[in-house]
Amino acid sequence: MAKLNIVKDGDPILRKKSRPVEVIDERIKTLAADMVETMRDANGCGLAAVQVGKLRRMVVVEVEENKPYIMINPVIIKREGNQQEAEGCLSVPNQWGITDRPMTVTVRYTGLDGKEHTVTGSGLAGRAFCHELDHLEGVLFTDNVVRMLDPDEVES
Ligand code: NI
Repeated sequence: MAKLNIVKDGDPILRKKSRPVEVIDERIKTLAADMVETMRDANGCGLAAVQVGKLRRMVVVEVEENKPYIMINPVIIKREGNQQEAEGCLSVPNQWGITDRPMTVTVRYTGLDGKEHTVTGSGLAGRAFCHELDHLEGVLFTDNVVRMLDPDEVES
């Protein structure tokens, strides 16, 4: 496995739409493992492939220790409720803001096993799923933020 370089806001690639993954081959499996390692190393709870310079519809999310979701071609199929909580992004370092997200989100995706899966997440998981899927459309959390937080409002 290898730690990958995280693309930062200002790089035009973050504004591009990612392409579907057609075949789950060794390159995709290696990319998935590298993305998990990169996310953990950066203390993040999610990472999209575009953030490591690959315009593929693939994200990793880990809101529970040692339980990463690796989602290929993910689609949100259900949204319920509402939450306004603090959010950040590994591509937008040292900036936090309150976003308006659904409380509970159900995502359908293809796993590394090539099979279709669905997962439902609430709270932080719901936010993370929405945030990472936005990256696949070239959207950053700062685009739709309710308000940015001052550094002294952020709990360390
Ligand atoms: Ni992000």
